Amino acid sequence: MQLIDGKLTSKEVRKEIAAEVEAIKAAGGKIPHLAAILVGHDGGSESYVSGKMKACEEVGFKSSLIRYDDDVTEEELLNKVKELNNDQDVDGFIVQLPLPKHIDEEKVNETIDPRKDVDGFHPVNVGRMTIGMPAFISATPQGIMELLKRYKIETSGKHVVVVGRSNIVGRPMSVLLSQKGNPGNATVTVAHSRTANLKELCLSADIIVAAIGSPGFVKGDMVKEGAVVIDVGTTRVPAMDTKSGWRLKGDVLFDEVAPKCSYITPVPGGVGPMTITSLIINTLKSAKKEIYS
Ligand code: GUN
Repeated sequence: MQLIDGKLTSKEVRKEIAAEVEAIKAAGGKIPHLAAILVGHDGGSESYVSGKMKACEEVGFKSSLIRYDDDVTEEELLNKVKELNNDQDVDGFIVQLPLPKHIDEEKVNETIDPRKDVDGFHPVNVGRMTIGMPAFISATPQGIMELLKRYKIETSGKHVVVVGRSNIVGRPMSVLLSQKGNPGNATVTVAHSRTANLKELCLSADIIVAAIGSPGFVKGDMVKEGAVVIDVGTTRVPAMDTKSGWRLKGDVLFDEVAPKCSYITPVPGGVGPMTITSLIINTLKSAKKEIYS
């Protein structure tokens, strides 16, 4: 069994990007610039956005954080989105979710220029990805694809069972892995809460992507010998022995499943560390006009 080390891979990717930024600077080019809009003071959102800004600093990007109080109006927020759409210096930006209830998240998302949508949430990017056009791909699926690529995990002709059909992980993973390409060319089954015979289905999988948000859902008797298991779960469960009072639990019962696997992602330290790095990858792609010319 080999652990897929997302922390290490993330460090490697960031080093590669930092070197590229150095080269851009040396050639007198424009430094990539990521902006983030943060509304309110939710602890989780604060810490995500701070991680994103730190990652920019680490790779040498310019970053801007635009903050609003919870009572910002939808109009004010939409005006800022439009301003960033037109700001020639900003290569990409994100609006951290969730937003307060009085703001329509879909409307905000659809107002973002798809060419700057480095979160890959805009319907144009989701549509482009689905039909195999160049697109910004959202952080978690892109991070998983990067891990599969760097660990040279064969997906062609394999049976992948994606457990979970969310818009941000399950569905895009099923699209990406069934597309032509490497990683890709897999036969994909999407399983969800109404799927019959889930255990048998998982036992037939060469690769399982567990993205249901239910801690320890995938058990040892659901996984065949030699399978690859990608655990996307990041549920915070109460813990007496940690400073924060919680710890992250994956969707996979690691101790039972790991001994059967050829490769497995741990939680924490697997898929998670790659997500912010994916945003950095997208911002560089945007700056280099790799997706939209
Ligand atoms: N909230 C939780 N994850 C994300 C993310 O990837 N992007 C944005 N914009 N908000 C989030």
